[in-house]
Amino acid sequence: MAKKRLVVLGSTGSIGRQTLDIIKTFPDKFELIGLAAGNNVHLLESQIEEFQPKSVYCIEPSHSIIKNKNIQLMSMEQMVSQPNVDIVMVATSGNIGLIPTIKALEKSITVCIANKEVIIMAGELIKTISRKSGALLLPVDSEPSAIWQCMQGESQPIRRIILTASGGPFYNIDPGELDDVTPKQALQHPTWNMGKRITVDSSTLMNKGFEVIEAHILFDVGFENIEVMIHPQSLIHSMIELTDGSIKAQISPPDMRLPIQHALFYPEKVANPMLRPFDTHVATNMELKPLDKSRYPCFTLAVSAGIQGGTYPTVLTAADEVAVDLFLNHRISFTDIPRLVDSVLFDHKFSKADSLENIQAADRWARLKALALAGDTQ
Ligand SMILES: NC(=O)c1ccc[n+]([C@@H]2O[C@H](COP(=O)([O-])OP(=O)(O)OC[C@H]3O[C@@H](n4cnc5c(N)ncnc54)[C@H](OP(=O)(O)O)[C@@H]3O)[C@@H](O)[C@H]2O)c1
Repeated sequence: MAKKRLVVLGSTGSIGRQTLDIIKTFPDKFELIGLAAGNNVHLLESQIEEFQPKSVYCIEPSHSIIKNKNIQLMSMEQMVSQPNVDIVMVATSGNIGLIPTIKALEKSITVCIANKEVIIMAGELIKTISRKSGALLLPVDSEPSAIWQCMQGESQPIRRIILTASGGPFYNIDPGELDDVTPKQALQHPTWNMGKRITVDSSTLMNKGFEVIEAHILFDVGFENIEVMIHPQSLIHSMIELTDGSIKAQISPPDMRLPIQHALFYPEKVANPMLRPFDTHVATNMELKPLDKSRYPCFTLAVSAGIQGGTYPTVLTAADEVAVDLFLNHRISFTDIPRLVDSVLFDHKFSKADSLENIQAADRWARLKALALAGDTQ
């Protein structure tokens, strides 16, 4: 069978690097034709040397990248619009992946989407585009992937989704102590090793709120039928309840390479010695506890923005990105994150998220508003 021609956007990040691990394991299945990164030019150079892509993007290319005659520098939009692309892995973070995702879907190219903010800000729009073009939109995020894997082979609608959450690094901390949390502490996730934004979002449980919105958009399940449970071991990645009340769960060690591989190979399942099997001895220690929402204001804000719909989820993710960035740069405290996001959402006026223009306008507005409210006009 011909190799699948793949573009990886965000190749230097956590998901991007793990995607390249999978590609390396199956050299006869994939041809990497495009790599896009942000600022980590050093790592990008070594990826170019190893994978020899034909097209490359980064914010400020180095001399050696510019001089490399075997590659063509182009924007991410141009890269995904090339006629020979079969699959695009969108592993950028924030709003950067939005336009390339839309371009790829318009061209009927399969999109494996890790960049959850794109789904939050423009879920209905990208679903409409993929429906029109017939392009596959495949989840990579571990919880939506788990739901998707559980759904395979099921023809009945899902009655309920149960998302699991590790609880993050502050699960056992007294809420009164959260004011003094440092970026270093927030970046220590107990079970996953991820990029900075998603790690902080996991510590506030904003990330779990994002996943509730993602699940609602991707699987057409009402918010009232999506529940979250604390599962500190991160082995059960999510569960679905079927019409007859039976529950299906997807269980595996916490390793993003499994959902990445699942999306890249879909609908095939392949063996990969790199992926550790589930250790049945740890099954004796699998806990499921109810979520105490009062501990996690970001979670409540996210779900409420999802329920309000329109451009509220766009504003939510944009304001949160600014707030997390300000926190990581010691400009605001950990507990200021929900306060700032809440204030931005409060000032937002509903608009439909049915066009790119509306979505981009809401995104811009929310970023400026968040900076202004934080007293930071940079
Ligand atoms: N990591 C996980 O385990 C995980 C799990 C589920 C979902 N996700 C989602 O997957 C996405 C990626 O997460 P991550 O943890 O891999 O993030 P990350 O480690 O921060 O990686 C982000 C990637 O985007 C690139 N990038 C940033 N700004 C860019 C720009 N302006 N132009 C082009 N590229 C740019 C970065 O490039 P440089 O590094 O070169 O600057 C990097 O390659 C996020 O939406 C996250 O929520 C991640």
